[in-house]
Amino acid sequence: LMTLLAFIFVAYLIGSIPFAMISSWIFRLPDPRSYGSKNPGATNVLRSGKKIAALLTLAGDAGKGWLTITLTQSYAPAWNLGNEAVAATALAVFLGHVFPVFLGFRGGKGVATAVGVLLGLNTLLGLLAIITWLAVAYITRYSSLAAIIAAILSPVYTYYIVFGQSLYTLSVLLMALMLVWRHQANITNLLAGRESRIGQKKTPPQ
Ligand code: G3P
Repeated sequence: LMTLLAFIFVAYLIGSIPFAMISSWIFRLPDPRSYGSKNPGATNVLRSGKKIAALLTLAGDAGKGWLTITLTQSYAPAWNLGNEAVAATALAVFLGHVFPVFLGFRGGKGVATAVGVLLGLNTLLGLLAIITWLAVAYITRYSSLAAIIAAILSPVYTYYIVFGQSLYTLSVLLMALMLVWRHQANITNLLAGRESRIGQKKTPPQ
């Protein structure tokens, strides 16, 4: 149990690394918590107008999810741990991003990190989620709506296409529920018709 807790703790710490902050610092941009949706995530960093900074945020936040799963998969057996460690670190890295110890527990919405986790669990699963996100984003230009739809469909893909009844399916389901819950403000804005679209820096005047 102690080794499992150690894996969970390390995964949480990795998840806590805020790439929106790191990337904004590298490119000398304002704190992403001070403009747009105020969310420290790739979508909001894109509102700064600096695409490369948004890309670095996306790659870092997804990369930490993928890395955590990949590291757990390779090191868990040596510590007599199996699937339960992978399922638990999947949730821990996601929670680290959403409630990061380095940002006073006020983190992002978890979209990029979830995608990285899904890619780590199963490449096809990650690709299905990405394709869903891209399709909705292309059609509607709403990053948040694309994330919400991809989050709703991910447990469906996990159960019916990839893992069936498995601890991984449970992790993906919990992650999806938290991700949608983190998008409350976006849902309100979408319903009110004032959610900002990709490629649009500011919310339209009300
Ligand atoms: O990546 C998070 C996205 O789904 C919504 O971000 O900044 O538009 O609230 P934001």
